[in-house]
Amino acid sequence: MSEDKKQLLKVYFEKRRETGESGFFYNRRKNLEGQKNMKKSDTVTAALEKLEKEVLSCKRCPLGSSRLNPCFGEGSPSAEIMFVGEGPGYTEDHMGRVFVGRAGKLLDKIISGALKTERSRVYIANIVKCHPMKDPSDPEKRGNDRPPSEDEVKSCIPYLKQQAELIKPKVIVPLGSPSAKTILQTDERITKLRGKAYDREFGSIKVKVVPTYHPAYLLRNSSKKAEVYEDTKLILSLL
Ligand code: SF4
Ligand code: URA
Repeated sequence: MSEDKKQLLKVYFEKRRETGESGFFYNRRKNLEGQKNMKKSDTVTAALEKLEKEVLSCKRCPLGSSRLNPCFGEGSPSAEIMFVGEGPGYTEDHMGRVFVGRAGKLLDKIISGALKTERSRVYIANIVKCHPMKDPSDPEKRGNDRPPSEDEVKSCIPYLKQQAELIKPKVIVPLGSPSAKTILQTDERITKLRGKAYDREFGSIKVKVVPTYHPAYLLRNSSKKAEVYEDTKLILSLL
């Protein structure tokens, strides 16, 4: 082969690598499917961003006036698994991101260790987007967290339903009692609820719900980790 041709081929393959194509043959069908998937997740991302803007200025409930930063939720717009906690705590309120404190670090470990995936490939949110505080006048106080009230959950839950309708996860994983009770619409305790998959409608989507213990509870009761590990196996079997 002449040096000219070799050079041309080199440039050709470099360009293909830059556009994400590999291999010798151009797979047009695969490429088109890729573009279609890309478009779908772009639309979902745009809709999620619009919803997040709404949450940024939301005052539907009193938490909107005491929070430092709302924590909308984060992760993949095409996630198969959606974790739902109860509400932002001190660290989340300061950073404007869900599950970034000690409980969040443990959740990250469950995602990578037991579910063998990454935080960026699942979706993580809460039943309320703003920090519920015992003393709402002092967001700087430690140990000031409390579970959200029924009214606060009622005001905020439409946001979570819209997130679920856009992302369409296969499995929703409520973390802890307030989240499990809200999503499963029951008063049953988390100890009774966990270990099973429930077929539910959430917003307009049909989804499997697999409740498990909250990672903050696991930090205080490490013997319960084995049960959470069982729950992660159940989650994986549903994907
Ligand atoms: Fe709005 Fe939810 Fe925040 Fe209440 S908790 S102000 S409903 S975003
Ligand atoms: N606990 C929760 O329930 N949610 C968070 O985002 C952080 C801690």
